[in-house]
Amino acid sequence: MAQGEWNMGAENSKRRLIVAITGASGAAYGLRLIEHLGQTDIEQHILISDAARVVLKQELDIELPVEPQAAADFLCKHLTVPTEKLKSYALNDWFSPAASGSSGIDAMAIAPCSMGTLARIATGASDNLIERAADVMLKERGRLVLMPRETPLSSIHLEHMLKLSNLGVHIVPAMPGFYHRPSSMDELIDFMVDRMLAHLAVDVAGMKRWGAS
Ligand SMILES: Cc1cc2nc3c(=O)[nH]c(=O)nc-3n(C[C@H](O)[C@H](O)[C@H](O)COP(=O)(O)O)c2cc1C
Repeated sequence: MAQGEWNMGAENSKRRLIVAITGASGAAYGLRLIEHLGQTDIEQHILISDAARVVLKQELDIELPVEPQAAADFLCKHLTVPTEKLKSYALNDWFSPAASGSSGIDAMAIAPCSMGTLARIATGASDNLIERAADVMLKERGRLVLMPRETPLSSIHLEHMLKLSNLGVHIVPAMPGFYHRPSSMDELIDFMVDRMLAHLAVDVAGMKRWGAS
């Protein structure tokens, strides 16, 4: 089976997906992704890095609780996602489904993805649950979709992205287009989140695709 084909034909109601937010700028992308996925029947497993919490506070004035259940409750309320569709795990919870290939979770998104997390995935560090879950996606040939964000990019960043791309990872950098003439931040954010959803093979009502009426 090719990288990214695993279980992708499953109905949304049978799918489980990991969404991680790391400490790159653009925390709003991660939140909007969770919000849009919350409109589907997909079960989301949420992983948040410590640095992502700092960025959430800096960019959106959000103080996300550290305790996993409290974080899940906050996100469900803030993003209007049904509680049974969203689970959150501590980054040292090695008994969580995300930590093992036998769980059958078929895809993972990291939005935004810091250069630190990208580097650690590219080198197989597996030092926290985000890196371990990504490592599982690679070894099980699941679908891994990353939204890296940094500017400018060093040769190290580019090498890591090329390495992961060659392994079948979907690299969807936070580079919104302007040809749809966005008139708000929300439209810019949705531009990127729609691309992430497309690469996760998830259809959400209202998603915009080029050439579609
Ligand atoms: C406000 C803020 C913005 C940041 N923006 C970026 C960024 O755009 N890209 C990046 O790679 N790191 C960025 N960083 C640095 C990362 O948060 C830092 O490297 C951290 O160690 C990443 O940890 P993580 O990968 O575990 O989330 C930012 C940090 C802060 C506080």
